[in-house]
Amino acid sequence: MSSKDRKTTNSRRGFLKKSSAAVAGLYLSTLGTRRAAGAKLEALALNGGPKSVTIRPDTRWPRFSEEAAADAAKLILRPSYKPNDQFEAMWKARFNCPFARAHCNGTSALGSALFALELPRGSEILVPSYSTWFPLSPARLLGLVPRFVDSDPKTFNIDVNDCKRHLTSKTRAIMPVHMWGLPSEMDHVCEFAREHGLDVIEDASHAHATKLKDTYIGNWGRLAGFSLQGSKPLPSIEGGIGVYKNRGDYERATAFGEYLAPGTFPEDSPYRKYDKTAFGWKLRMHPVSAVLVMHQLKRLDEQNAITAKQVRGVNDRITQLPGLSEPTCRPDMKRTYYWCNALFVDEKKSGMSRDTVVKALAAEGVKATAFEWTLLHTYPYFQEAKWWAHQPADPGELPGANLANATAISIPLWFADQPELVEQTAKAFEKVWAHRDKLGKV
Ligand SMILES: Cc1ncc(COP(=O)(O)O)c(C=O)c1O
Repeated sequence: MSSKDRKTTNSRRGFLKKSSAAVAGLYLSTLGTRRAAGAKLEALALNGGPKSVTIRPDTRWPRFSEEAAADAAKLILRPSYKPNDQFEAMWKARFNCPFARAHCNGTSALGSALFALELPRGSEILVPSYSTWFPLSPARLLGLVPRFVDSDPKTFNIDVNDCKRHLTSKTRAIMPVHMWGLPSEMDHVCEFAREHGLDVIEDASHAHATKLKDTYIGNWGRLAGFSLQGSKPLPSIEGGIGVYKNRGDYERATAFGEYLAPGTFPEDSPYRKYDKTAFGWKLRMHPVSAVLVMHQLKRLDEQNAITAKQVRGVNDRITQLPGLSEPTCRPDMKRTYYWCNALFVDEKKSGMSRDTVVKALAAEGVKATAFEWTLLHTYPYFQEAKWWAHQPADPGELPGANLANATAISIPLWFADQPELVEQTAKAFEKVWAHRDKLGKV
């Protein structure tokens, strides 16, 4: 082939490539319009039209296999604590972390981690008010006090920019939470902590096997705690695990919750002499939980992928609709989904109130709800001085957390591959949006 022929062929190939891309683009853009037009032809279920969703989501969770149940039964017939050691070894290998301890739940893992920090009584911990109270109850018993900060309305996670205004002479640590499976911006959190000399403790209870920049969530902070309770992405029935970067933290956290642990520490451990009395509670994992969670750990990636496929299938379509978005996940993050598929409705851009959207979706068969989370600082527990080394401060305005609460809706996650349900759910949103002009005026 001459160079002229080659040029002609190449340019023809280039033309064909470009024109087929243009056709595909046209197809894709008209597909949205056709879908919307098709959706508009159907009356809303709210007005007596057919329901979009007719398939029941398979929300059964946790899903333990027959094999896991058989292994649990074997353990019941020949009781032993060995599964706890096996689970810790499995975790360390899987997540590439040097020290881990199985606990009876996430609360005890996080409480033991706080003990390990050896913070003086009255120390303050920066924690988002949009979070759970679980690690804060043990914090109180250690004389630690939460200092509530705002969250990013686009992620539900700690707003590092707001932390500065809450720093005091007593601030010693920061405890981000990776809400609903989305990693917090741990690079920014750790930088802020370094600048201000704070320890970082991660509440990673919603975010098993998630990552930021190729580092697993839980491995960013000095230490971390995970819940393995039955609703979590990595479930036992009740369980937790603490992970630590250094031996001292591991030994203190472990000795806080396991009276025989100090005797197992190396000869040179300063905590060996505390064997039997140890330091506090008895918080070890039930070994049946260890058996169950090891089976789950083997299929964690597979299950996270099933959930992600479902959410992407729905969200990639519906976030094209005006005024509907999902939490922002940075390209260098790998997230999972816990509790629900949370979305945001911008009432102005969508032309509908959040309540109208929820009502119309519910009629279509999508179990949508306005997704509002009680901010921690509003609970009586955090407003009464008598429980605390000192009164937790009123954080003042938290516009980010309030905006998240004012705009979020939740739809269910399901845990099996159900492509038709993905199609029906997306269609329900498209149908509601196709009627938004009229709905907005109701
Ligand atoms: C964010 C968060 N942290 C900690 C916990 C406590 O975990 P556990 O219930 O295993 O004690 C939970 C439990 O739901 C949680 O959601």
